[in-house]
Amino acid sequence: MQKVSDPLLLNQYSFSPRLVAAPMAGYSNTATRLLYRRMGAGMCVTEMVSAKALVMGNRETFLRLATAQDEDSVCLQLFGGCPEEMGEAARIVCGESRVQCLDINMGCPVKKIAKNGYGAQMMGDPLRVYAVVHSMVSKSSLPVTVKMRSGPNQDQINFLEIGKACEDAGAAAITLHPRNKHQKFSGLPAWEYISQLKQALKIPVIGNGDVLNALDALRMFEKTGCDAVMIGRGAVGNPWIFQQILQMECGLNPIEPGISDQAAMALTHMDLEVEYSKRPDNEYFRLRKSLPEYFRNSKHYESIKLKIQSANNNSELRDVLLGWDCW
Ligand SMILES: Cc1cc2nc3c(=O)[nH]c(=O)nc-3n(C[C@H](O)[C@H](O)[C@H](O)COP(=O)(O)O)c2cc1C
Repeated sequence: MQKVSDPLLLNQYSFSPRLVAAPMAGYSNTATRLLYRRMGAGMCVTEMVSAKALVMGNRETFLRLATAQDEDSVCLQLFGGCPEEMGEAARIVCGESRVQCLDINMGCPVKKIAKNGYGAQMMGDPLRVYAVVHSMVSKSSLPVTVKMRSGPNQDQINFLEIGKACEDAGAAAITLHPRNKHQKFSGLPAWEYISQLKQALKIPVIGNGDVLNALDALRMFEKTGCDAVMIGRGAVGNPWIFQQILQMECGLNPIEPGISDQAAMALTHMDLEVEYSKRPDNEYFRLRKSLPEYFRNSKHYESIKLKIQSANNNSELRDVLLGWDCW
């Protein structure tokens, strides 16, 4: 059996360890990706980027292709549904960005995406899926992966058919979050679908869904035989999860961060966010919402959250985090 630290090959590009940070709108920006890579993620997927906006030359969207100077192992996620547009967007990304991989969003259940036939809605149209993947593969030199759900609704659980269509069209790997579009995040993800997909396809399968701690990740590898594990919510405020998985795989007890480690990590995260922000002076406003996640397991969570939320500028927020020993 392969090890988590073994490289996983996606055409000409390989990443290691086999731990992928999930695309999460509002989170998976440069700062968060850099932090996750430092903490042991093998590859990080960006927030989704609109293929249509890229093709139309939208300036804001082009800025989202940027990666940090020292950043590697980035997979850029595109959403859209028109094969020609997706192919053209793939061509643009290859020319304008330094990412290593392209991903297609076939999992988003949100109405404003689904109503255009994008995201998980596209799974209802296998011919279109084939055409989109094929167009992107033929227009780009990067490996193209697909992130999907178990199906477009509860009556159409067609991940095997869609997975096969993607493989036939030249996809380099598939990520499966085994809930259908209507489930959003409710119920349990059907990890057995990940095993079924793995058995049905030749290309790598990346498992996703409710990996909230290191043990969950090792259980997913073992139960499903997947080639890599993707982690979303489990890494928010807990970037240690990536190194804990590697520690546990080696038979070590995972190192649990204490409050000083959590405060130091939150501060590092804040510094990265400010460094890569377009409006650095206003960063505290966004961070007041996300940084409390670092302390979600603390018995003082509510009071820590209040302190963080009371900061009125970057300097006050920094002072709150530096003063953790008085909390
Ligand atoms: C706030 C939030 C934003 C997300 N944004 C995206 C996205 O842009 N693209 C995507 O494919 N999935 C997105 N997802 C889904 C995650 O990538 C992942 O599939 C899902 O959270 C299940 O994995 P988890 O249980 O490890 O969190 C998002 C999920 C959350 C909670």
